[in-house]
Amino acid sequence: MRSLFLLLLLPLLAACPSSTTPADDDDDAVSDDDDATPYEAPGPWTDLEYLQRIEYMEHLVEPVLRELFQEFDAELYADFGCETCHGEDPADVDYEMPSGTPESLSIAEINGLRNHPDPERSRYYDLMNTVKATVAPLVDQEPFPTGDFSCFSCHEQE
Ligand code: HEC
Ligand code: HEC
Repeated sequence: MRSLFLLLLLPLLAACPSSTTPADDDDDAVSDDDDATPYEAPGPWTDLEYLQRIEYMEHLVEPVLRELFQEFDAELYADFGCETCHGEDPADVDYEMPSGTPESLSIAEINGLRNHPDPERSRYYDLMNTVKATVAPLVDQEPFPTGDFSCFSCHEQE
């Protein structure tokens, strides 16, 4: 029965070269994306191991933030991705944050952002507060000032 099934299936696969996704083996291995099952975090962020964190970021953080940034400026953030927050070659530093990208900020700069004379800068005020409030719960933290997740969780302090 099984071989008959394969015989029927193989020509179908061969006729459809784009269908390279293997069948679901349900082995729950890290990075096992061989099925169409929606991603489910294997646990809370704080309990995840490095490779699980990469997957978590891929599925639950990056897409949400990409949408936020692209709504803000579709052209500037057309290539939004891991690197926008983590910098070039993030794996070289094990995705440690902050990593020097985005630009570093001083407390004075942060305090002056809302009423900054340059509208190209002041427009970041609302976005950045939304970014802070959005990412904090995704990484099991409270946003500053009630918690520790602050501008300096992503921007190095000057
Ligand atoms: C909006 C900014 C942002 C984006 C985009 C983003 N990350 Fe992150 N990432 C963070 C922050 C902030 C932390 C630190 C979380 C914490 O404090 O635990 C983090 C932590 C991590 C960690 C854990 C590092 C450690 O020390 O355990 C990994 C791994 C990671 N990110 C991978 C990725 C990958 C892969 C992508 C793209 C799919 C990505 N990140 C996209 C902000 C971002
Ligand atoms: C989760 C990570 C994260 C947090 C938290 C965060 N930022 Fe950002 N911020 C970014 C990223 C990513 C950019 C885009 C950098 C770019 O344009 O390349 C950015 C851009 C900016 C810019 C514009 C910089 C430029 O290149 O023109 C300012 C100003 C800024 N942030 C201020 C803040 C302030 C103030 C806070 C705290 C209220 C904050 N950010 C919190 C990730 C973060």
